[in-house]
Amino acid sequence: IPQSPSGIDDSDFLAKLKATGAQVAIFYGSQTGTAEDFSLRLAREAKRFGITPLVADIQDYDMECLQTVAKEQENTVLLFCVATYGEGEPTDNALEFYNFLKDKEESGDDFDLTGLKFGVFGLGNKTYDHFNAMGMFVDKMLDKLGGQRITDLGLGDDDANMEEDFVNWKEQLWPEVCALFGKDPTDSEISFRQYELRPDLINKDKIFTGEPHFFGSFTKQKRPFTQKNPFVAQVRERRELYDDDDRSCLHIELDIAGSSLKYTAGDHVAVYPKNNPSLVEALAARLGIELDELLYLKATDEYAKKQTPFPCACTFRTALTHYVDICALPGHNIIQELVQYAQDEEEKSRLHHLVTKEGRQEFVKYIHDDLRTVLELTVWFVPELLCAGFKSVDVPADHLIELLPRLQPRCCHVNLIDEKVPVFVRRSTFRLPSKSRIPIIMIGPGTGVAPFRGFLQEREALKAKGKTLGDALLFFGCQHEHKHYMYREELEEFLESGVLSELHSAFSRDQQHKVYVQHLMKNNAKTIWKMIDAGAHIYVCGDAKHMARDVHRALVEIIKAETNLSTQDAETQLKTMAQQRRFQQDVWS
Ligand code: 2AM
Repeated sequence: IPQSPSGIDDSDFLAKLKATGAQVAIFYGSQTGTAEDFSLRLAREAKRFGITPLVADIQDYDMECLQTVAKEQENTVLLFCVATYGEGEPTDNALEFYNFLKDKEESGDDFDLTGLKFGVFGLGNKTYDHFNAMGMFVDKMLDKLGGQRITDLGLGDDDANMEEDFVNWKEQLWPEVCALFGKDPTDSEISFRQYELRPDLINKDKIFTGEPHFFGSFTKQKRPFTQKNPFVAQVRERRELYDDDDRSCLHIELDIAGSSLKYTAGDHVAVYPKNNPSLVEALAARLGIELDELLYLKATDEYAKKQTPFPCACTFRTALTHYVDICALPGHNIIQELVQYAQDEEEKSRLHHLVTKEGRQEFVKYIHDDLRTVLELTVWFVPELLCAGFKSVDVPADHLIELLPRLQPRCCHVNLIDEKVPVFVRRSTFRLPSKSRIPIIMIGPGTGVAPFRGFLQEREALKAKGKTLGDALLFFGCQHEHKHYMYREELEEFLESGVLSELHSAFSRDQQHKVYVQHLMKNNAKTIWKMIDAGAHIYVCGDAKHMARDVHRALVEIIKAETNLSTQDAETQLKTMAQQRRFQQDVWS
């Protein structure tokens, strides 16, 4: 059993509540860190109101204790920031909690949460099916088990403006929570630091250089390689796939020999990116810091979940290059903190206005619509960006670093590829059928074609082993045939060898009117329907917002036209196929 420095059993939530005297406990179900970030923001705000918070990773505690919490700690408020991932799934760290609640729902056990005060904020994306499924489920179940909802369920939509949804939800939440503890909800102006500089803790023999978790893991590479312990792969090949002066798309091959990394066709390679050195230098100049100076940030609260915001000690250069996202769009919390550092009164009130209710519209326009990053806001002149921000904001470097979100690994967008990159495998649910003779239909315009190269290579290997291959159709699309038709030769070879049965390419801008993959699908409606009827699996990869929606619509149209089903029944058929994993999407926005 893990023990915290204070001697409490770290998996005993009730004991932790009692020991910390926490009045508000905030659980997060997070995959990429946003839900976790929101939880930390809630904790920070609670403190401002004079309320004691406790932030908790949902997987760290045995949730059976919720019943006892409901009975013995009736004044405690439990908040849940839970993200929905992929096809309506919980995040990895919330899976156990999800199963736990499902189990309570199905078993009809006498699990009684009467008196438990709770609030839920869900993080999701409307372009995906099952919008915020996890948030809705947690909210519904806690209510069903007798809990007392203190504020309406918040539904964050990353496709529109998650920050705004969160701020709106908090506006309802805090007056309720403050009323419970007799605090003043308007009393939130006091600034308060979560971390402090502790040069005394710097150990010169243990200086991190960008490792995501374990000291020395970049230089002493030890298996198994995971997200916390990535493999440093050599870039073996790097070539441009487009023939276009204005746009670039890179083919990159990584050498993973000796890593024992295992993957299946359809999985993603995740890469730890680095911030652009010239932006790091510009920010350092603006903040007046020496990049090679050492930094150790330590939590001011001994119970804080994270004792340092990222591996410490490290140089400012390492922190700004590897650990914090200097190109993030600032949330209300960051701007709110910057206000106190504005020396110029006019700038101060302009900044402050952005985080008031009256300034909501302007915030959305200025930050969200115009995509203004923290860097642009604070660095008053970056030659590359040619922008002017708030010149008089004199924020201490360590405070800004504390406020910035942690730089996350990427699956498809990589800012900078050096000779060597830390990588790990991110499992996907995108999978070829278990039997090679089952036909497949692949729809992947643009970079959406990537996993299908993997699928085709896999089928080629199966064929070489003597397996029978079912038909395979690929719908590819790009703007101009001569500039953007990536992997053309390879795809044509697959066609020739029979690994691919039909290849349909839509060149959207080579003629007056747009031609997209879904148009070619409609031209091939009969073939598609015959394959579906014969048990084909359908795969869609690429843009979620427009392409995947339109392709979905086209599939419904095809099913309708070929079967005389109603729109609703055709939709139901696709839904059933999705449940049977015969219709799979790997899409992003
Ligand atoms: P466009 O840029 O000419 O609009 C890969 O990005 C290809 O997908 C491009 O040819 C792009 O065309 C096309 N595309 C854009 N919107 C689409 C949509 N809604 N459905 C299908 N393809 C689309």
